Amino acid sequence: MYKTPFHTKDISKNSFLVTGGAGFIGSHIVEYLIKYNAGKVKVLDNFSTGFKANLQPFINLSNFELIEGDIRDFKTCNESCRDVDYVLHQAALGSVPRSIKDPISTNEANVTGFLNILKASQENNVKRFIYASSSSVYGDSPHLPKKEDNIGSPLSPYAASKRVDELYAEVFALNYKLSVVGLRYFNIFGPRQSPSGPYAAAIPLFIFAMLNNESPFINGDGEQSRDFTFVENAVQANIKALFADISIAGNIFNIACGERTTINDLFNIIRTASGTHTIEPIYRDTRDGDVLHSLADISKAEKLLGYKPQVDIKKGLEITLNWFKENYSHQKE
Ligand SMILES: NC(=O)c1ccc[n+]([C@@H]2O[C@H](COP(=O)([O-])OP(=O)(O)OC[C@H]3O[C@@H](n4cnc5c(N)ncnc54)[C@H](O)[C@@H]3O)[C@@H](O)[C@H]2O)c1
Repeated sequence: MYKTPFHTKDISKNSFLVTGGAGFIGSHIVEYLIKYNAGKVKVLDNFSTGFKANLQPFINLSNFELIEGDIRDFKTCNESCRDVDYVLHQAALGSVPRSIKDPISTNEANVTGFLNILKASQENNVKRFIYASSSSVYGDSPHLPKKEDNIGSPLSPYAASKRVDELYAEVFALNYKLSVVGLRYFNIFGPRQSPSGPYAAAIPLFIFAMLNNESPFINGDGEQSRDFTFVENAVQANIKALFADISIAGNIFNIACGERTTINDLFNIIRTASGTHTIEPIYRDTRDGDVLHSLADISKAEKLLGYKPQVDIKKGLEITLNWFKENYSHQKE
């Protein structure tokens, strides 16, 4: 992965804080920054959904620091942001169903935690604050493809939390001149995405089930569609957002591939690639809070960030499947 860099600037004198760096997307950002000799990479994570194993290759490096702590604690955020140039905020509790079951925990991590790290970034004069938002903020808007300025009402506490984050980021840009960039991720997938627990995402669940000769569940009739995006594209967006020459206000971008795949098609692609031709999915009820179709217009990120997805869904699934074949045993823990 990351055969050529997404940045041109020398980052050997810069320090970066990746919150949620032990998680799926965060650990890929860390991997990229370390690969390209970042001066210092700090990770702040409480391991609620992340894994120490995701950081194992970096743990003994002199330019890496792990802070085991919680973004719900402002003091921890403030100390973590000390002497940091750039913050890449990935820590949050993901999952729409989790947020419906437990909106308080989602709010604490995704809103209170977000505000803590945002305020700590401002107090420590970070050069730019990049944060993970979500396509879920489009909510009940029927328009396709989704354009940044045309959102609907959120359909879940998770979506509401991400929308609140965007509003806070906007007012911090306005009131404190903090340079903020929000990335609305659309269904990111790839190596290290966890197939464990009740809130795992479709792709790792499908792959994990099929590698174990089991039938995965599909919610609804499977004709709902998503803009599945390989994680390397999300890393590219984060790195380009760090150094893009953009004004400080209103910086929210769709990060996706700009292609739509139904869940049934996704199942078929993975089934063919994994060689498990006889497995059939088990269809069950639709889930509350889920949107029916999702497809991004990525022209704003292309134009202003220079973002250009390099790995399409087929290639990304091939890489992910191979990774699961080699590694899935440790994810079972
Ligand atoms: N994966 C996707 O498809 C997707 C889509 C849209 C948005 N996002 C957002 O991207 C970000 C990263 O998602 P991911 O898929 O890598 O999830 P993940 O669960 O793998 O990573 C999240 C990380 O944050 C950490 N964390 C959670 N609460 C914390 C807290 N209170 N203090 C410190 N650390 C905490 C977890 O331990 C974990 O390592 C999240 O903000 C998520 O909402 C992800």
